[in-house]
Order: sequence, then C-alpha cells, then structure tokens
Amino acid sequence: MYNLLKGKRGIIFGALDENSIAWKTAERVHEEGGTFVLTNAPIAMRMGTIKDLAEKTGSQIIPADATSVEDIENLVDKAVEILGGKIDFVLHSIGMSVNVRKGNHYTNQNYDYTQKGWDVSAVSFHKVMQVLHKKEAMAEWGSIVALTYMAAQRVFPDYNDMADNKAYLESIARSFGYFFGRDKKVRVNTISQSPTPTTAGQGVKGFDGFIAYADKMSPLGNATALDCANYTVSMFSDLTRMVTLQNLFHDGGFSNMGVSQAVIDYFDKE
Ligand SMILES: NC(=O)c1ccc[n+]([C@@H]2O[C@H](COP(=O)([O-])OP(=O)(O)OC[C@H]3O[C@@H](n4cnc5c(N)ncnc54)[C@H](O)[C@@H]3O)[C@@H](O)[C@H]2O)c1
Repeated sequence: MYNLLKGKRGIIFGALDENSIAWKTAERVHEEGGTFVLTNAPIAMRMGTIKDLAEKTGSQIIPADATSVEDIENLVDKAVEILGGKIDFVLHSIGMSVNVRKGNHYTNQNYDYTQKGWDVSAVSFHKVMQVLHKKEAMAEWGSIVALTYMAAQRVFPDYNDMADNKAYLESIARSFGYFFGRDKKVRVNTISQSPTPTTAGQGVKGFDGFIAYADKMSPLGNATALDCANYTVSMFSDLTRMVTLQNLFHDGGFSNMGVSQAVIDYFDKE
C-alpha cells in the first residue's frame, strides 16, 4: 500500500455490510493510513454488521440519520473530538427509494415516498455539507465525495425516482462545491459508479440483466466496489487537490459507449 492517507481524518457514511461500497472504502482508507468514524442510520446498525468493520479498522461508530440535521451536528462534533482535529475527507454513500422498495412504478409514485427518498438520497448531502461548513469542521484541502449513478443523465427505466434523486445530488455537489472551494479550499465531487451487487443495487428491478448488460457494454467491464474504493482513496489523497465540482464516471468506459461488439453479437441473427 502507499500510505496515501497517512494523518488524514474522515467520516464514512453508509457501510451496511461487507458488500457496501462504503465498507470496501473504509477498509482501503484504513490500509492507506487514514483514521475515521463510521456512521449509519440507527436502524441500519441493527440490521448490518458495521461493528465488525469498526473493530477491524479501529474506528468508532456514531449513529446518525442523514436526514436529521441534529444527528449530523452531533456526528460532526463527536468526530472532530474523537479524531482529534478537523476533517480531511467525507464519503456520502447513502441511497434509498421508498417507491422502489414498495414496488411503485415511476409513473405511479406515492409523493410522500418520493419526498422521503429525495431527502435520504440527495438533500442529506446538502445537510452534511451545510453542517460541516457552518461548524468550520473541514480542514483546508479536504475532499468530499458522494456516490451516484448515470441514471442522472440517461434513461434507465427501472432506476425509478432514484434517477431524479441522483440528478439533484450531482447538482448539490456543484453548487455547494463552489462555496466550499471558495471559502475553505475543500473539493466536492461525485463518483458515478458501475452497477454493483450491494443491498441498494440489488433493490433495482431487473438488476441481474442490468449489471450483465453494463459489463458487456464496457471495454473494461464493470468497476467493482473495491475498484470504487480505490478511486475514492485517490480522491481523498493529496494527488487530486485541484479536482472539484466534477461528476467522475467510474464505470469501465460504459458512459461513452454507443454499442459494443459483444452486444452486437448478441442481437446479430446472421
Ligand atoms: N450498487 C450500485 O449498483 C450503485 C451504483 C452507483 C451508485 N451507487 C450508490 O452508492 C451508494 C452506496 O450504496 P451501496 O450500493 O453500497 O448500497 P448499500 O445498501 O450497502 O448502502 C446504502 C446505505 O445507505 C444507508 N442509509 C439509508 N438511509 C439512510 C439514512 N436515513 N441515514 C443514513 N444512512 C442511510 C444504508 O443504511 C446503507 O448503509 C448509494 O448512494 C448508491 O446509490 C450504487
């Protein structure tokens, strides 16, 4: 390993189980010498196995519902105290759609569910950054990353209202990123990841077809959760100090493909 994050302190949202992208990221950050607190919604603590990750990485867990400003304020105060200084990196790895969970089609949404999913998946990112900004809790040249998906730009019918949430999330990254950069020299980016077999990913209808198609379309194949963790580590490191306000595609090349030979062969009848 490269000691890329030696001496850096952070907060990692969203590790539910060992498949979670945040879980892999926490493991890689730990290997690279970073220290952090782990956080997740109180209910996820009961369902998941985050305690194992905390033990493995020598981290503390601070529960926080990412839709609650009060919870986030408590989290940030405690994180600074536990880690012994300002925060250098933050991973927002949170997504949830109640419409998807309840099987509501995109054209038949329950708008209370829509609002809840939007709050959890998108506005929570603004809330986290607003608390960090107001409390002046980020160190200069810190790095904030949120995870997103290409359904923000292109149509993936079964991604449902999460597509709209991701578009909103990416916009928040740009808008808040401006102020964070100008005021604190902190960079804010989103990483647009390949379909990945996690709890959230597999909640998408037709996920198996979806992930296989992306794999066949991408010259490098799909990026795994571990690949994503590695990319995120580089975004937290000092090697990417001038990258901000970007939506960074991390998808084996999928986003720039029209069609691949593998997909042509599949449909070619001759
Ligand atoms: N899996 C994929 O195919 C894929 C592709 C691109 C982007 N992403 C994004 O990656 C991120 C992480 O998802 P994942 O695939 O690792 O799945 P995951 O299910 O392991 O992680 C989602 C996390 O969100 C947390 N969460 C939900 N509601 C919360 C709340 N109110 N407060 C705090 N945390 C809450 C869950 O507890 C869970 O830990 C999400 O933003 C997701 O949209 C996933």
